[in-house]
Amino acid sequence: MTTSPYRALFQPFQLGHLTLKNRIISTSHAPAYAEDGLPGERYQRYHEEKAKGGLAMTMFGGASSVSMDSPPSFGQLNLSDDRIIAPLQAFAKRIHAHDVPLMCQISHAGRRTHPATGNWLPTVAPSAIREPAHGAMPKVLEAADIRRIVADYAEAARRCAEGGLDGVELLVSGHLIGQFWSPLSNKRTDAYGGDLDNRLRFGMEVLEAIRDHTPRAFIISLRFTANEFIAGGITEDDGIAIAKAHAATGLVDCLNISGGANWTKAGVAETVPSMAFPAGRFVTLAGKVRQATGHCKFRCQRGARRSDRHDPRPDRRSAYDPQTSGR
Ligand SMILES: Cc1cc2nc3c(=O)[nH]c(=O)nc-3n(C[C@H](O)[C@H](O)[C@H](O)COP(=O)(O)O)c2cc1C
Repeated sequence: MTTSPYRALFQPFQLGHLTLKNRIISTSHAPAYAEDGLPGERYQRYHEEKAKGGLAMTMFGGASSVSMDSPPSFGQLNLSDDRIIAPLQAFAKRIHAHDVPLMCQISHAGRRTHPATGNWLPTVAPSAIREPAHGAMPKVLEAADIRRIVADYAEAARRCAEGGLDGVELLVSGHLIGQFWSPLSNKRTDAYGGDLDNRLRFGMEVLEAIRDHTPRAFIISLRFTANEFIAGGITEDDGIAIAKAHAATGLVDCLNISGGANWTKAGVAETVPSMAFPAGRFVTLAGKVRQATGHCKFRCQRGARRSDRHDPRPDRRSAYDPQTSGR
């Protein structure tokens, strides 16, 4: 009997209530194909081609916007009103026809989005720290803003569920939830700042609100950097503590591990990599999270190299989990 080096890749995989037919998944990215914030024919066909090609699941809608004050500044989808539901239903029907589940990545970009887009509202963030990319100073979130944005997340997820999607992914890294997590962007002295529990509070409230507004059989994935690789930022120990804290809540089905500080130029180059970057950049980091959390599923960036999948070192064995690729 011949043994294929890719045998693990073509085994089914259980993700919550979903049985994926293999372990090949397209991760969310923003191809800038949205038309007036909606996924039109071009957007849907882009993912349908992947579904026809045999992948197990597609995650679309990189950083789709949940709120008015997180305008889609780079052609993302806009989940902040009910107009999106009908196009999502058409999208879901199209992808499901190939026996492929689909999920949308949802986000509030916080200070990272550009204020001179959408309705030209001020950007918001945990603390008044200038966004490095475009230099705008965000408004500090007040308690009422936090409640409003938590509700916006829940409504966006509800729209995805009504649109027939199989789940949502929260983009943490560099966006609003991640801005609360990182000590470099959160200097608050209230219940949302200070120690790690406080800094995780906003994201936990978002997760609870989403669970309250979506069916039980609805996948929630958390995509985050488990090591910002920057002085004063989230360390690997923090990343593992964060993963454990979320696994313990039972609120998430999947941890999708990335690395780097994507709000810096160097960080964004690593997380939105050119083809010059090596494959599987964060697979070791993801393996460590996997070891620490045990039962939780996670994914690593860009398909790991063949050798990784057979590596006896436990921290490289993440490659037995689904292999992901943006492109
Ligand atoms: C143009 C582009 C936009 C991206 N946008 C997002 C995004 O919005 N959210 C996200 O989590 N990842 C985003 N990514 C990262 C991809 O999901 C993926 O992790 C990365 O491209 C590595 O996989 P690949 O080398 O197979 O593309 C983006 C990548 C590219 C190239």
